Amino acid sequence: MRKVVFFITLIFLAVPVGAAEGNLKNIMQGLERNFTQLVEALLVGDREQLVEAAGEIAQHPEIPGYQRVLIAEELGEEIAQFAQFDRVVHTLSLGLQEKGLVMTEPELLRNTQEILAACFSCHVAYKDRISPILE
Ligand code: HEC
Repeated sequence: MRKVVFFITLIFLAVPVGAAEGNLKNIMQGLERNFTQLVEALLVGDREQLVEAAGEIAQHPEIPGYQRVLIAEELGEEIAQFAQFDRVVHTLSLGLQEKGLVMTEPELLRNTQEILAACFSCHVAYKDRISPILE
C-alpha cells in the first residue's frame, strides 16, 4: 500500500495536471511562436532575441506520458525515427542558443533552415498519423 501511494505521488509530481503546455498540440504551438521569433530575429539582425528564441525551442516542454504511450503504440519501431527528428531540432537550436552571438550570418541561416527542415520532415512523416490518435 505504501508503495502504491508513493508511486501515485511520483506520477503527480512528474505530470503537472492542467499545465498550459499539457499536450503535444500546445507544445507545437509554442514551437511555432518561438520559431517565428527566431526568423524575425534573423531578419532584423537581433542576435539577443535569436539566442533567446533558440533557447526556448531547445528547452520545449516534454510530451506528457499518456501521449507518449499513444504515439509509441501507433509508431512501433518508427518511434526511433520520430525521436530522431526531435533530437535534430534540439541539437540545432541548442547550438544556436550557445553560439548564436558569434556565428557568421551564413551559419545562422543554415542552422535556422536546418531546424525548419527537421520540423517539416517530422510533420511530413508523422503528423497525419499522430494527430488523429491524440484527439
Ligand atoms: C518529432 C516530430 C515533430 C517535430 C520535430 C516537430 N513537430 Fe510540429 N507537430 C508534430 C505532430 C505529431 C503534430 C500534430 C499534433 C496534434 O495534432 O496533436 C505537430 C503539429 C504542429 C503544429 C500545428 C499545431 C496545431 O495547432 O494544430 C505546428 C504549428 C507545429 N507542429 C510546429 C512545429 C515547429 C515550428 C517545429 C520545429 C521547431 C515542429 N513543429 C517540430 C510533430 C513534430
